[in-house]
This record gives sequence, structure tokens and C-alpha cells, in this order.
Amino acid sequence: MAKRNVDSEVLYTEVAKLLTDLKQCVVLTGAGISAESGIPTFRSLGGLWEKYDPAVYASIEVFRKDPSKYWILRGDFIRNYDSYQPNNAHLALAGLEQMGIVRCVITQNIDGLHKKADSKHVIEVHGSLREIYCLACGKEYRVPHIPGGTPPYCSCGGVLKPNTVLFGEQLPRDALTKAQEESAWCKIMLLVGTSAVVQPAASLLFLAKQNGAQIIEINIEKVFPDADYFIMKKAGIALPMIVEEIKKIPIL
Ligand code: APR
Repeated sequence: MAKRNVDSEVLYTEVAKLLTDLKQCVVLTGAGISAESGIPTFRSLGGLWEKYDPAVYASIEVFRKDPSKYWILRGDFIRNYDSYQPNNAHLALAGLEQMGIVRCVITQNIDGLHKKADSKHVIEVHGSLREIYCLACGKEYRVPHIPGGTPPYCSCGGVLKPNTVLFGEQLPRDALTKAQEESAWCKIMLLVGTSAVVQPAASLLFLAKQNGAQIIEINIEKVFPDADYFIMKKAGIALPMIVEEIKKIPIL
């Protein structure tokens, strides 16, 4: 059972002390950390999967037959990629990395906001919308220089696909391997804004737990029953509060 599952000042002080004492923190983030940047989540109330069936709009099998479905789902998000900005949660994690407390961020998000927040060690296990490739000739395109059309086609006639992992696709091997190594090594896993239901990303949490890591969950709903600490608050509020508590701890 979670040792502490109330959102109180004491909790923030305890979590700040734990992070400062142990350091070796790895973060696993999901769509919830980007909600305050105006990006919809998938399974929260009003989430993307309430409107679109992922088996139709986000599966590689369907993409191969009818790539317009994925571009109907993601076209606007891709073309407006540069307009999305990191929020205080992303910035707080970049700050914790600079403090030597966070070693890396493993994200399921494809929005690139951790890198925009200047986190240096980011593992994008589901890829990113930043890069778009022609499936025929491999030519790389970058937003905003994407041809029009749903779906857009390469000058060679091939269809374009973002460098994101669709359902039914393998995760990038090097990213998954690195994420597994980091999860097995860490002493603390900070779980932020994820329903932790999609594999293999969700298994990283259990890998950390079985290797003795303390699990600190930040979410607006309780997801992981075995968390050692649970902060029920928006990530954009909770993470800056943790950073402020850490700054109060005297450096010996
Ligand atoms: N702060 C913290 N947590 C939040 C916030 C917020 N402001 N807003 C929402 N949440 C939480 C929700 O309570 C939910 O538990 O974020 C979580 C989002 O869960 P999902 O929508 O399932 O997103 P995610 O866990 O990232 O999904 C994993 O599923 O469909 C695939 O590829 C997709 O990468 C995605 C994967």
C-alpha cells in the first residue's frame, strides 16, 4: 500500500528529501504531463480514444491500407507541432535534471515537449512527431515543411508517416533497451501522468518496482496501487512544488 497518499505539505517535504538523498531518479511520463500544454490525453475524460477508435486510427495494419485515417487523427497536431510549448511540469523535470536528481526522462509522449523544455536525457519510447518519413524512399521531412494533403505524399509518390509507434508496431529497440536499463538501475521512479496500461512501456514501472525502487506517482487519479507516494495533483503544480521544497533543503 502507498505509504503516503495524501496531498499535503509534509508529503512534498518527504518526497523532496527522498529525491535529494537517493537521487538516481528516472521519470516515466505519459499524456497527462502534456495536458496543461493543451494536448488531449487518450483515456482521461474527453480523451482522444473516446472520439477515435485506436484500432482504426492508430494501428499500423490500417495505416498500410488507408493512411488517411492516421492523418485525420494526427494531421493538425503534426502541422501545429511547433506551436505546442512545454508547461511547468516539463520545465520542472528539466530543472531536476540540472540539479543532478533526475537522470533521464522516459516518455510515451510523441509531442517532443521534454526536449523543448531542454531535458537532455530523454528516451522517446513511442517516437516523435518531429520526424516524418516517406515509406517508399525514406526521405525525411520536418514540420512545418510537410506537403499538403491527407495523407501527404513524398515527391517520389510514397506516403509519409511520422516517426511514431502505431499499435501493432515494435518500439524502437535501442530506446526500449535503454529505458529498461534505466528502469532496472534507478532508486526512484517518478510516474507522471500515465494510466500505465500500454505495454511494453507500462512494464518499466514494474521493472523499477521489482528492483527495489521507490515509486512516486503524480496523477489526478490513482493508477498504481503499489506506489510508495501518491500526489493527487496536476503535474504542472505538483512538480514545481517539489522543486521548491528541494531548494529549501540545505546543501551540507
Ligand atoms: N497531471 C497529471 N496527470 C494527469 C493530468 C495532469 N494535468 N491530466 C491527466 N492526467 C492523467 C490521467 O488521470 C491519466 O491517468 O494522465 C493519464 C493519461 O493516461 P492516458 O490518456 O492513458 O495516456 P498514456 O498513459 O500516456 O497512454 C499511454 O497509450 O494510446 C497509447 O500511444 C498512446 O502513449 C500512449 C499510451
